[in-house]
Amino acid sequence: MSRVLVGAPLVGDALERVRAVAELVTTDDPIGWSRAELLARVVDVDALIAMPSQRVDAELLDRAPGLRVVANHAVGVDNVDLQACAARSVVVTNTPGVLTEATADLAFGLLLDACRRISEGDRVVRAGGWRGWGPTVFLGARVTGATLGIIGFGRIGRAVARRARGFEMRVIYASPRPPTPSAPDDAEGAERVTLDELLARADVVSVHAPLRPETRGLLSRERIAAMRRGAVLVNTARGALVDEDALAEALVDGRLAAAGLDVYLDEPRVSPALLAAPNLVLAPHLGSADAPTRAAMASLACGAVVAVLGGGQPPNRVV
Ligand code: DGY
Repeated sequence: MSRVLVGAPLVGDALERVRAVAELVTTDDPIGWSRAELLARVVDVDALIAMPSQRVDAELLDRAPGLRVVANHAVGVDNVDLQACAARSVVVTNTPGVLTEATADLAFGLLLDACRRISEGDRVVRAGGWRGWGPTVFLGARVTGATLGIIGFGRIGRAVARRARGFEMRVIYASPRPPTPSAPDDAEGAERVTLDELLARADVVSVHAPLRPETRGLLSRERIAAMRRGAVLVNTARGALVDEDALAEALVDGRLAAAGLDVYLDEPRVSPALLAAPNLVLAPHLGSADAPTRAAMASLACGAVVAVLGGGQPPNRVV
């Protein structure tokens, strides 16, 4: 019987479909197997359901000669060495589509929180530091009618643009992909601009680009410096897209009004520089964390494993 290593406990009952065709190797730890545990357990498995926090690289693949499929429980596959998988004929799948709305919800939540200083206020109230109402107290950035710049205009970027319409925001976006009939230039009422123009015009910048070698450090020190004074940055994509030190400096010296982050360079570690910035909302990578979304992600990952073990083709194949 095939063996399937399940990276972490899944939401819903999708795993039962896998259990019907394979033996499962599971953990009760909600954050899943550690690197050392994964390396130890992957040796004799046919399939791995990997979490975005679990690196699937040549070292791991070399220990798993029988591995046929890595079903990544995420849409982003930056934790998987795709070339190394392809070289070993290991199929890689992801979970596209099902987390679009949940991630866009979270991005908009961070946008509102950062602009209107909700979490910052919460901390002051809890610490007993709220001295009372005053016209100049806790002034934030205006959301309604502001210009929102979306970097990366795939499914999630477009879903954020749809939400922005409800707040009468002007939406501009930058994307390396040329417009197509199904993804036209003015989709969701948004205007396509260059990245430089977006940074110069946007009151709020929200990042939705995939992490690839060419997008690593996309929001570099220079690009953060090119943002409007008093702008707000939201990142629900991947931490490595943003220069965290430059962001922390821009927040502390007030060039940027605020930021909201769900993702970090070295998760779950958050850099001391970011932790020291008061006008920064820090979420623990929970973009896809609503129950129906996580159940749908589990279902796609489990479906892919069942398909490959049964000799079929998973629809959400990346490699
Ligand atoms: C993804 O799917 O890439 C998300 O970051 C996981 O929450």
